[in-house]
Amino acid sequence: MVDVIDTKRNGGELTTEQIEFFINGYTKGDIPDYQVSALLMAIYLKGMTKQETATMTMTMLHSGDQLDLSEIPGVKVDKHSTGGVGDKTSIPLAPLVASVGIPVPMISGRGLGHTGGTLDKLEAIPGLKVEISEASFKQQLRDVGCAIVGATGNIAPADKKIYALRDVTDTVDSIPLIAGSIMSKKIASGTDALVLDVKTGSGAFMKTEADSVALAKELVGIGKSVGMNAMAVISDMNQPLGNAIGNALEIEESIALLKGNGPADLLDLVLTIGSQMVVMANKATDLDAARKMLQQHIDDGSALTKFKEMIIAQGGDGRVIENPTMMPQATYQMPILAARDGVITKMKADEMGIAAMMLGGGRQKKDDQLDYAVGLTLSKKVGDEVHQGDTILTIHSNREDVSDVQQLIEANISIGDEAQPLTLIHEVID
Ligand code: URA
Repeated sequence: MVDVIDTKRNGGELTTEQIEFFINGYTKGDIPDYQVSALLMAIYLKGMTKQETATMTMTMLHSGDQLDLSEIPGVKVDKHSTGGVGDKTSIPLAPLVASVGIPVPMISGRGLGHTGGTLDKLEAIPGLKVEISEASFKQQLRDVGCAIVGATGNIAPADKKIYALRDVTDTVDSIPLIAGSIMSKKIASGTDALVLDVKTGSGAFMKTEADSVALAKELVGIGKSVGMNAMAVISDMNQPLGNAIGNALEIEESIALLKGNGPADLLDLVLTIGSQMVVMANKATDLDAARKMLQQHIDDGSALTKFKEMIIAQGGDGRVIENPTMMPQATYQMPILAARDGVITKMKADEMGIAAMMLGGGRQKKDDQLDYAVGLTLSKKVGDEVHQGDTILTIHSNREDVSDVQQLIEANISIGDEAQPLTLIHEVID
C-alpha cells in the first residue's frame, strides 16, 4: 500500500493492479483507514487520468451486486444530483416522469456536509421507508412506476466505506472521487439512461464552471463507456434552489410544485431535467413536446396522484398530500429583515445550508439525529427588490435562541443597488 501511495503522491499513474489492490483490500477490511486516507489526499491533490478514474469506477462497481431491471418493461431513466442546498428536484421529478409512463428507479443518498439528502427529506413523511428490499423495489417499479430508495445492502460497498472516509478527511470535492462514487452506484442500479444534475457555484462541491464541466464530462463519459445513455445539465447553486431549505419544508414545497404552485426556478429545473428524461425514454421526439407533456401532467393532477401512490407504496401516510402540516412543524418562526432598501445581490447557498444544519436539519456528525421540522423559507431571492423591514427569509427552529444562525445568515446575504442576475441552467453536456 505504501508503494501505491508513493506512486500517486509523486504524481504517477496507478496501474489497474494497484487500483484493484486498494479498492478490494479496503472493502474487505485488509487495509487500514489511515493508509487509504493518505491515498485519497494524494488523489485529491494530484488527480487521476481518465483511464484511472474509469478503472476505479468499475472496481468499485464490482465490489458488490448489480441490479438487473431487464424484467421491468420500458426504458428505465434515473437522475442524480451532485448535491446542493434546497435541491429537492428528485422528489417531484420522479413521480412526474413516472406519470407519463416511464419507469424511474431512483437510488438516492443522504445529506453530506452542507448539502441536503433526498432520503432524509422523504423520511420527514410519517411512516415512509427508504430502505426496502430489491424484490419490493422491483415490485413498486412495476405497480407504481417509480421508487426513491437508498442503495440496498451490497450496492457498491466500496463507495460506502470510501465515501464515509472522504467526508472526514476533506477529500469530497475531487472530480475523480465524485465520478467514481456516483457512477459506480448508478451503473450498479441497472438504469438504462441517466441525467446528471451537476451543480456549480458556492453551494456546490464544484465551485467553478470549468470544474463543473470537467466533472460532467467525466460522469457522462463513464456512463457511455458502459452503454448507458447519459447526459448532464450544469445548474446554478450560488443561491439555494426554490424557497425551502429543510426536510419537511422541502417536501411541502415539492407537493406545492406538483399542485402547480412551485417556485419558478425549481419548476424550470424539474421541467428541464424531466424533458431530457422523457426524450431519452423515447416518449417524445423533442424537448419542447416533452416539456408540454410534463406541464400537462402537473396541470391535470396526475403527477401529484403518482407522488401519493409512491408515498403509500413505501409505507408513508398519503394524507400528507392534502395536509402537509402532518409532518413535524417547528415551534419558533423568526424573520430576517432587510436592513435597507435595494435589491438582494447575494444569498450564499453553502452558508444557508450550514444555517439549516446548525438548526438540526443536517448532520454535523455521522450519527446525529435529524430534526425534520427545522430550516429556512426564503421570501426573497437574488435580484428581488426589498424595502427596509421586509422579510427576506424566515428561520424555522425548535430552539428559541437562534442568534448564531441569524448572524451567519446576515453575514451571507447582501443588499445593494443593482444585482447581477443568476442563470439557472448553465450548460447541457451530451
Ligand atoms: N454524490 C455522491 O454520490 N458521491 C459524491 O462523491 C458526491 C455526491
